Amino acid sequence: MVAAVDQAMDAAGLTNPHVREYVNYWAELTGAERVEVVSASDDSRLIKESLAAGEILPAGDGLYYSRSYFKDTARSEERTIVASNNPSDAGVYNNWRSAEEMRPLLEGKMRGASAGKTMYVIPYLMAPPGSPLEAYAAGVELTDHRTVALHMIRMSRVGVDFVNNLADPNSFVRAVHVTGDLENLGQGTPEDQRYFVTIGDERTILHFGSSYGGNALLGKIAHGLRQAAYDGWASGEFLAEQFMLVGITDKKTGKKYHICGGFPSASGKTNLAMTLAPDALGDRYYVEFYGDDIAWLRVDPEDGKIYAINPEFGVFGVAKDTNAATNPGALDSVAPGTQSLFTNIAYNADTNEVWWEGKTPEPPADVTGWADWKGNLISERAEGDDSPWAHPNSRFTTTLANVPNIAADFENPKGVPIDAVIFGGRTRDREPLIRAITDLAEGVYDGLTLGAEATFAAEGVDGQLRYDPMSMRPFMAYPEGAYAAHWLKVIGQAKDQPIFAHVNWFQRDPEDGHFLWPGYRENLRPLLWLMELKNGEVKGRQTPVGIIPTKDELNLDGLEIKPEDLDTILTIDNDRWRQEMGHREKHLKQFDGLPESIWEAHRRITADLEAEG
Ligand code: GTP
Ligand code: MN
Ligand code: MN
Repeated sequence: MVAAVDQAMDAAGLTNPHVREYVNYWAELTGAERVEVVSASDDSRLIKESLAAGEILPAGDGLYYSRSYFKDTARSEERTIVASNNPSDAGVYNNWRSAEEMRPLLEGKMRGASAGKTMYVIPYLMAPPGSPLEAYAAGVELTDHRTVALHMIRMSRVGVDFVNNLADPNSFVRAVHVTGDLENLGQGTPEDQRYFVTIGDERTILHFGSSYGGNALLGKIAHGLRQAAYDGWASGEFLAEQFMLVGITDKKTGKKYHICGGFPSASGKTNLAMTLAPDALGDRYYVEFYGDDIAWLRVDPEDGKIYAINPEFGVFGVAKDTNAATNPGALDSVAPGTQSLFTNIAYNADTNEVWWEGKTPEPPADVTGWADWKGNLISERAEGDDSPWAHPNSRFTTTLANVPNIAADFENPKGVPIDAVIFGGRTRDREPLIRAITDLAEGVYDGLTLGAEATFAAEGVDGQLRYDPMSMRPFMAYPEGAYAAHWLKVIGQAKDQPIFAHVNWFQRDPEDGHFLWPGYRENLRPLLWLMELKNGEVKGRQTPVGIIPTKDELNLDGLEIKPEDLDTILTIDNDRWRQEMGHREKHLKQFDGLPESIWEAHRRITADLEAEG
């Protein structure tokens, strides 16, 4: 086998001796029948092979459809662990375990588990080439699932050059994915066999027991977020966050602003980055997409500005409710010819059409040929079965270049300077449309107390409120107290401090449940207000929890909203907020070593709410 593995690497020009040793080790351990090195240029051949094998199905010109195993459709947080060799790396959310325990456990599960399969070797880069953070960006994913290779080619930059020419040839992330026998893994039971482990201080990722993107695309979630967060902290150099990143140009003044921010999974990052609608506000603004899920932030020692890069190369977006009104950009980016992939939506094998809830108001009237995300024919459904046709966490995968409003300079290795950091979640009451925060500690405090309703992006209960610090709860790699201190340190170095804001597009009417704010394309309006506030052009209204817009400051041209709904989303409900502060205190008390300035912010806000109430 060793000779064959070396031959495959020779043929692909994979010369890095450390990578070759790593590939040989895992080829042997997993028992893979053969090894294949993947570059982006292999995509069309891999697509043909996947079609021939029935792993993907045609979904129109240059579009493809796949289903993941029905018990394997979301990230599994309880099965996710960030391990290390240092017990003091244990936090509340990282499920820390020792590397000593995890490595043999995972090796045991993976031993022989790829027998009869091909192991794809995917050298990748999670950064625009030439980035100052490039030293943290290289990795090699090994996977025994061809569809994962197709996704990786879209979501990251893939090719042997990214690992052959490393300044330190040993400084790549080792990311091993073994699918396992999906039908016998006891998903969600006490006998669950799955393990999704990142060993932070060994820069090694070992994922066993899933082929769903959120668990299997190791460049994206495991490296881009967990490993990078650990590296950013260990080196002291940067932050890696589950953030979207957009640019807004005001053509009247010629100024360009960059805003990044975190919303928990399935809470609107992709939508915000793709759909802000400048056309709704005359011809004055244009909005550019930089990223929708991950940003790495550093302060440039020369000009003292905060720069953000999107380490990804593609978009892995939620399909549900995506349509021409909510997110036309997403539809364009998965248009015919874009080589996009769909996962777990509804599919018509006769016509190759696809559908998901919210694509059109009603599902196709003629159900002939239509099957739901599990592959069951709609025409054979039992009477009264009205379960969704598409899985609520079904996704589309496309490359950044397909996004219609992709920024011209999205590959600028330096990244873009940040003006604002926003946080937001699904919150049905209490949280106003936007509240701005000008103090760094208060901004970090706001991120740490981000709360949102749970969604289907992770296994769990939909709709239940839970805290999700900075939207990083599923990706926390080291203790939360140290995380807060690292934030204060990195952002504190910046000469130009960003403005912070908390946004909420999801406040609902308590009676009939309708969303009070139209959301989607209209979310540009509060962001423009935020930039005006930062520029001193508007004053807003100071409240104990931040500055909120007055009605006349918010651009409401052409907006359809009931006056009483607008009043509600621009009001602070003091009673609800005072209640919330008690929950926050309990939440923050879980974290050891939280910086005193965070507690000071908490006490200051609590006291201000009491004084007003
Ligand atoms: P991940 O990719 O899982 O990290 O999630 P995300 O933050 O990118 O979420 P996404 O933008 O895909 O949105 C998830 C869901 O929220 C979709 O079903 C959207 O239709 C819905 N959504 C997004 N923005 C808005 C909004 O402004 N208003 C309302 N009501 N729904 C929204
Ligand atoms: Mn995400
Ligand atoms: Mn997204």
